[in-house]
Amino acid sequence: MIVCGIVGYIGTRLAVPVLLEGLKKLEYRGYDSAGIAVIEDGELVLNRSVGKLHMLEGKINGDAHQGHVGIGHTRWATHGRPSDRNSHPHTDCTGKIAVVHNGIIENFLELKEWLEENGHVFQSETDTEVLPHLVEHFHQGDLLRAVEQMVSKVRGSYATVVLSEDHPGTLVAARKDNPLIVGLGEGEYFFASDIPAIINYTRKIMVLEDGEIAVLTAEGVKVYKNGSPVEKEIQLITWDTKAAEKGGYPHFMIKEINEQPRALRDILTGRIAPDFSGVDLQEVSLTAEQIKNIRKIAVVACGTAYHAGIVGKYVMEKMLRIPVEVDIASEFRYRNPLIDAHTLTVIISQSGETADTLAALKEAKARGSRVVAITNVVGSSIAREAHDVVYTWAGPEIAVASTKAYITQLLGIYLLTLFLGKELGRIPAGEMTDILHHLYQLPKQAQDILDHLNEQLNKMAEIFNQWEDTFFVGRGLDYAVALEGSLKLKEISYVHAEAYAAGELKHGTLALIVKDVPVLALCTQPDVFEKTVSNIKEIKAREAHVIGVAFEGNKEIGKSVDEVIYIPETLPLLAPVLTVIPLQMLAYYASVHRGCDVDQPRNLAKSVTVE
Ligand code: F6R
Repeated sequence: MIVCGIVGYIGTRLAVPVLLEGLKKLEYRGYDSAGIAVIEDGELVLNRSVGKLHMLEGKINGDAHQGHVGIGHTRWATHGRPSDRNSHPHTDCTGKIAVVHNGIIENFLELKEWLEENGHVFQSETDTEVLPHLVEHFHQGDLLRAVEQMVSKVRGSYATVVLSEDHPGTLVAARKDNPLIVGLGEGEYFFASDIPAIINYTRKIMVLEDGEIAVLTAEGVKVYKNGSPVEKEIQLITWDTKAAEKGGYPHFMIKEINEQPRALRDILTGRIAPDFSGVDLQEVSLTAEQIKNIRKIAVVACGTAYHAGIVGKYVMEKMLRIPVEVDIASEFRYRNPLIDAHTLTVIISQSGETADTLAALKEAKARGSRVVAITNVVGSSIAREAHDVVYTWAGPEIAVASTKAYITQLLGIYLLTLFLGKELGRIPAGEMTDILHHLYQLPKQAQDILDHLNEQLNKMAEIFNQWEDTFFVGRGLDYAVALEGSLKLKEISYVHAEAYAAGELKHGTLALIVKDVPVLALCTQPDVFEKTVSNIKEIKAREAHVIGVAFEGNKEIGKSVDEVIYIPETLPLLAPVLTVIPLQMLAYYASVHRGCDVDQPRNLAKSVTVE
């Protein structure tokens, strides 16, 4: 069972450098082991290594690799520990057939037993290894036919590419529930899990759909479904290649944090009416009648996207006066949720491929709910399954820790809320205009934070050199952002961080507040400001070191805390967009000071396409 990145190449270049470069761009999908298989002088040559890609590079002697056809894989293990033996590509008994795979083969035990009874010998602990043995079993001289038969035996999800020594000029790939694209160059063709892997070679791509099998040769690509050829649309990628590279920053995360003003601008472009009277969300096709019939909103997501959903609950309930439930996707899908045709489901996902979120979407649809997805990846599985999509236009997010995706998900929520609120007549015209004017200011205010707080936050983050525990507290929307601030810190700096509703602290957690422990107290919500200050007093009474986050001009806060991070003032409703930025930066600098791997934290992967 794996989450991973796949690359395949066939053409006139040497395959090894193309595969390695592609894998480097896909390391965000997994990075605990990697491998390649190339056809050289008619023979299949395999190289695999546990550890990051440079370990594999170290093993490969470039001169020895003259082949022009190959496949590569970078892995994130969940089934079968990371090891050379469990790394992809996996081969059949003869060593002539190699397979890379992203997904889960659910019936692999059953298949493995059956193959073993038929004389096949297994080398690894992975589910994937059944695939090359199945191809070997069915192969009668036609690789496409053998892959079709392999697929017919398999239950589960896969993006997989097959290479065979007996067919040195061909690659065959199949896809179900995991992403796979074909890149079309001049006399060269590619398979990849994602666009950055091939964008330096071609901008023409095809997105494979579930159930499709593609055959690449140096002459071109043919796609089949249920045995018949399929006509595929060629899409042109318009992004700048720089968008998927570090552009002078030491890490993708800080680059992406700094891209947030631009990302905010992009998601707002064309969506605010010129007279600030409403928002234009043409992509949402809900009719006035359907909107009037909404009795409940169910927001479903994972991780950071889930935290954006919690902000959504506060915002939507306040403005729409419709009850909002927020669920973690892996909980939602198994709790028999009360969803029906009167529920609007809002699915939030950066990648658009998260397995649990996708399954929750399907669950909601099956119960008659309309689904709006807020996602960053055009053509992703979630974008294709949802009835409507609000794209966040953040551009490729490479660092595992999500930053610009989160902030644009928040904007997606505000835009959707304002759109629904206007249809429902629940937002007075003056309030709408005021909110839109403030939304419009956010990109500039985000830039101010980046320009003015960098040094302060870099210094402040040194506190996490001494502490392994910290707390984030706030009320209302501040609590929602506290959740995200604490996740950012723990995932990249490995400091244990807990987020608490400030009023809840004294119901148990206050026992952990000791002298000098750092506590981040978010104080941007005026209606609960005094209540939060009372909670801060309780924390200070235990001699913790409290860092407040408040709007510029808030003099009161300085009297109760040890240090203050001041952010530009906006409407309290929009505060999360600005409050989260210093928390992201604190997490980033804490990770750098502690010598952690900022962009690829241990045990994590960017795209989680398994349950
Ligand atoms: C944390 C982070 C994850 C993701 C989560 C959902 O920084 O990035 O918690 O938010 O895995 O991923 P998407 O949004 O792609 O569905």
